[in-house]
Amino acid sequence: MTENPEKPDETEPKKLLSPVLSAFWDQPDSWTLDTYHRHGGYEGLRKALQMPPDDVIAYVKDAGLRGRGGAGFPTGMKWQFIPQGDNKPHYLVVNADESEPGTCKDIPLLFANPHSLIEGMVIACHAIRSEHAFIYLRGEVVPVLRRLHEAVREATEAGYVGKDALGPGKDLTITVHAGAGAYICGEETALLDSLEGRRGQPRLRPPFPAVAGLYASPTVVNNVESIASVPALMARGKEWFRSIGTEKSPGFTLYSLSGHVARPGQYEAPLGVTLRELLDLSGGMRPGHRLKFWTPGGSSTPLLTDEHLDVPLDYEGVGAAGSMLGTKALQCFDETTCVVRAVTRWTEFYAHESCGKCTPCREGTYWLVQLMRDFEAGKATMSDIDKIEDIADNINGKAFCALGDGAAAPIFSSLKYFREEYEQHVTGRGCPFDPAKSTVWADDDSTAHQEVNA
Ligand SMILES: Cc1cc2nc3c(=O)[nH]c(=O)nc-3n(C[C@H](O)[C@H](O)[C@H](O)COP(=O)(O)O)c2cc1C
Ligand code: SF4
Repeated sequence: MTENPEKPDETEPKKLLSPVLSAFWDQPDSWTLDTYHRHGGYEGLRKALQMPPDDVIAYVKDAGLRGRGGAGFPTGMKWQFIPQGDNKPHYLVVNADESEPGTCKDIPLLFANPHSLIEGMVIACHAIRSEHAFIYLRGEVVPVLRRLHEAVREATEAGYVGKDALGPGKDLTITVHAGAGAYICGEETALLDSLEGRRGQPRLRPPFPAVAGLYASPTVVNNVESIASVPALMARGKEWFRSIGTEKSPGFTLYSLSGHVARPGQYEAPLGVTLRELLDLSGGMRPGHRLKFWTPGGSSTPLLTDEHLDVPLDYEGVGAAGSMLGTKALQCFDETTCVVRAVTRWTEFYAHESCGKCTPCREGTYWLVQLMRDFEAGKATMSDIDKIEDIADNINGKAFCALGDGAAAPIFSSLKYFREEYEQHVTGRGCPFDPAKSTVWADDDSTAHQEVNA
């Protein structure tokens, strides 16, 4: 025991991993209903169905679950925004588009444990009084599509979905929809347009989806991991959930380690763990190399450096360090990586994925690509450094949706920490890095490159 209850007891070993969603991914046939049942599956639903819908919403709110799709918005509060007694259909839409560079948690979760999502969806539909839910899946991942169809079939056969699933006279349909592979369709209002059969472009807000979403009816859009976290929370209790993580960011979550690390993969840990702790668990950076920069939550979150290894990876900690927790996609780059090159690649991605609806993003990302390529080719001048900062400033906060802010983030943050590397590209007339020593950027002929040039 410590004398000061505020101070953590340092003699007690800190529990680093908290496998819940990933607890049985290594079991044979982990994706089947049988395996899910053997691990306590659908217990949370049983408990939720005995509670009035509003109490379920209050329970999830009290537990403090925050959305895992990027912004960390409280999930229970989002459900509470759905009007009641309005005589309109309500919809739940699960965002399984997962296209952000570096983000790779929802797809493995759905592949290994799809029933955690299905169970969470049934609970959410009970809470928001919805009888039709959708999963909008990134269309390229056909094996996951098959697994989801099969999980819905199993859940329907078992009576969790389908006729009277939510009580007498309350049926529940789950539709699995495969998108056509566009990053912008992960933005919740573009997703709704795409689901309705239109070209996926963001909608003007207000009205917000909670008021007029899918088919102009009240709609909740939640990330896969947010919804899949609900069954365990319901089954084991909100106090248990709150005992994991930090006060303002409670619970467990999937951190996706990738890049120049010894053992990349999914590490499910309490919110507030640090990158240093995760690297200790995963064998560190590849042998003989050191961390140079990293993203806390995918390419649209401002990059951080080795100064930030001890930043708590929760919404508050990463925010205070000048970035965002985002999707917890920890892409780690070592000292062999040219930051200008990495940012060029990301910028090409944003230019390619810009939906073209608004001028700052459509034009700005195009011009950023041209200038970033000039740096790489040794054709840029010192004034181009100010120019890219100025263009990024003209996109940031001035674009129609958050894709624009995401495109500006790598430019601002790389200039903040590595401005001298841009200068070296100007004075040395090209990249000072030896491409043969870096393992990340070998694919010079990306399709984004060709199409932006076209
Ligand atoms: C360009 C863009 C792409 C996005 N892609 C995704 C995505 O693939 N999956 C996701 O859950 N959220 C994505 N989001 C965030 C969603 O708009 C939305 O905030 C999220 O699905 C809400 O879920 P949550 O409250 O459970 O976190 C994206 C946002 C933008 C601007
Ligand atoms: S910011 Fe980009 S992606 Fe978003 S609406 Fe504007 S053009 Fe489309």
